[in-house]
Amino acid sequence: MVRETTLTPADLIWPLFIIEGQNARTPIKTMPNVERLSIDLAVEAARAARDAGIPALALFPNTPDDKRSEDAAEAYNPDNLMCRALSAIKSAVPDIGLIADVALDEYSANGQDGLVREGVILNDETIEVMIRSALVQAKAGADIIAPSDMMDGRVAAIRQALDAEGFEDRQIMSYAAKYASCYYGPFREAVGSGSRLVGDKRTYQMDFANSDEALREIAQDLEEGADSVMIKPGLPYLDVIRRTKDTFNVPIYAYQVSGEFAMIEFAAQAGAIAREPAILESLHAFKRAGCNGILSYFALEVARDLLD
Ligand code: PBG
Repeated sequence: MVRETTLTPADLIWPLFIIEGQNARTPIKTMPNVERLSIDLAVEAARAARDAGIPALALFPNTPDDKRSEDAAEAYNPDNLMCRALSAIKSAVPDIGLIADVALDEYSANGQDGLVREGVILNDETIEVMIRSALVQAKAGADIIAPSDMMDGRVAAIRQALDAEGFEDRQIMSYAAKYASCYYGPFREAVGSGSRLVGDKRTYQMDFANSDEALREIAQDLEEGADSVMIKPGLPYLDVIRRTKDTFNVPIYAYQVSGEFAMIEFAAQAGAIAREPAILESLHAFKRAGCNGILSYFALEVARDLLD
């Protein structure tokens, strides 16, 4: 009766990793119970998520090696893996929301989120590629465009391009406060960018010592037209979620990222913690901190089996 927060399936967004092929699923060594899925199986997964009450999926492609390049041109190929997955799911399961990640690391030869020249990230040139990538994703059926690259000025540029092409109804969910974090390791294995990563991402992702800076990043993205903001990773940054909630009256999402997921799974496997209670405790913490929704690899299991 006096419980202050509740968790429901409607709070959960389920990230899916997509691969080429038919009836194909591949395990991810660092993410127990998570598999990359071919498009046909992703459609089945989308149906299961919809039936469990999950409102949206976040899609991430594992681009074949021969399609990755220094200029990340595959990012705006209208027939790329991501676009084919978006349109297949959209037509088979129209009532689940689709969130498309916009960043170059899933398409670039060097695993960086932006274009690179002589070791330096090219902010403005990257934005041109991101606009083209967002447009092919919107055409393929993405409801929400989610730039995760942390380049400056990309939200305004993408908003303007979407509006000009008749996609006024698509939202932008900005990864506004994204930290340069060691917790993304398993994700990089999942999308195949980790082993190719040259250097680190500290010139554009945030320093974990800062939180005022997060509020500035969020203010800037909202000013540029973001409909909602994301904070990432999640559990180590609950203070940032709470400050954001207290400062801005907008929908806030947190990403319980791959490393957070792995910590729970591997600690549970080792018998150090009880798995299901740990999952529920972590997800409630996000709600308590002020999140409207949580991206979590546990989403389907929680929505289907763990809530009363
Ligand atoms: C970048 C992107 C990353 C994640 C989501 N989008 C990785 C990175 O910035 O290196 C990480 C998500 C996770 O760890 O679960 N496009």
